[in-house]
Amino acid sequence: MPSFSNVMGGLRPTKPYHDTQRWRAVALASLVLVLVTTTIIIKGKPSSLSGVSNLKSNSFHSSIQFQPSVEFMNGTNLIWQVPESPKAVLFLAHGCNGQAANFWDKSPGCPNCVGLPEERLIVLHALERRFAVLAVSSLERCWSLGREKENVKWIIKWWIEKNKLEKLPATALGASSGGYFVSALAAEIKFSSITIMIAEGQFDSMEIPEGYPPTLFVHMPKDRTRAELIRMNMEALRQKGIPVKEITCLEFPLAPKLLSDRIPGLDQTLAVRLFEVFREKEFIDKNGYMRNDGRVIPWKQAVKQRNLLLKKHELVNHIEEELNLAFAYHEMTSLRSDDIFEWFESHMN
Ligand SMILES: *[C@@H]1O[C@H](CO)[C@@H](O)[C@H](O)[C@H]1NC(C)=O
Repeated sequence: MPSFSNVMGGLRPTKPYHDTQRWRAVALASLVLVLVTTTIIIKGKPSSLSGVSNLKSNSFHSSIQFQPSVEFMNGTNLIWQVPESPKAVLFLAHGCNGQAANFWDKSPGCPNCVGLPEERLIVLHALERRFAVLAVSSLERCWSLGREKENVKWIIKWWIEKNKLEKLPATALGASSGGYFVSALAAEIKFSSITIMIAEGQFDSMEIPEGYPPTLFVHMPKDRTRAELIRMNMEALRQKGIPVKEITCLEFPLAPKLLSDRIPGLDQTLAVRLFEVFREKEFIDKNGYMRNDGRVIPWKQAVKQRNLLLKKHELVNHIEEELNLAFAYHEMTSLRSDDIFEWFESHMN
């Protein structure tokens, strides 16, 4: 299981260009600029966001409400929500340092819920499409592949029976550590299809059984090592006749109101002030792109110096998640939810 330091180990400062390479870089940059401009003209929006529904998520226009059920069993926390007339089941596995509580907003029914911006949107999208959602917390910081698999298999089975969902197709989505976990779990439970996010899966150290579910990889190709491993695993699955697909997520520029648009409880004034600090400190370049991962740049210190955020301390992880998402190296993302659920829905029979 990659630890956070391994994950971020791939982030290295760019080496200065050798002079002879410079003209090539300039030529390439011009070409890219022409292509990007053309794409913007054709599509009417930046290419890095093509396929992305809408960055403004606070106005999630639907009647979907968070109404989670919470239970502690077999040594861990379970949170779930079953919509009216569910048509499928979705099991969610968080990444290292994650927890089931990150997927639902804090509410009287779930006072410890955190509602991280990407996690909560995945659940809202799922509920809107009438998926019954179950999230389980890992026993330790990250998922493990021994006894914990037995535990979760037992929990999923118990939960499906309790809610009388046996007849519905079951799907699973896991990010990072949760992606390895879901890839391994799928060899032992019948899922109709799965999504592995920002992870290559456990395929090099497991037997891929007959009837392994169709597998969608959602990843961030800025992490080139992982992109290459995903490419290899997709080929291995393909050779076994298993349908595979990949969706790549690219960086996008921060906008002054991005944080208030995507984080409930963070107002526009604060979002704009944070954006100004990021610009002054050059955490973002002149086009608004993050210069590094949110876990690497000292944005928290900078914000603290300005006495911003002291009262909103509980939103630090929410902000960092959005910064990581914009940098697009390694983060949970809800931006391609439509594609993910279309993948699930197209493999249900
Ligand atoms: C989970 O807990 C239930 C009830 O306490 C128990 O019967 C079951 O054996 C446990 N499952 C595992 C895999 O430990």
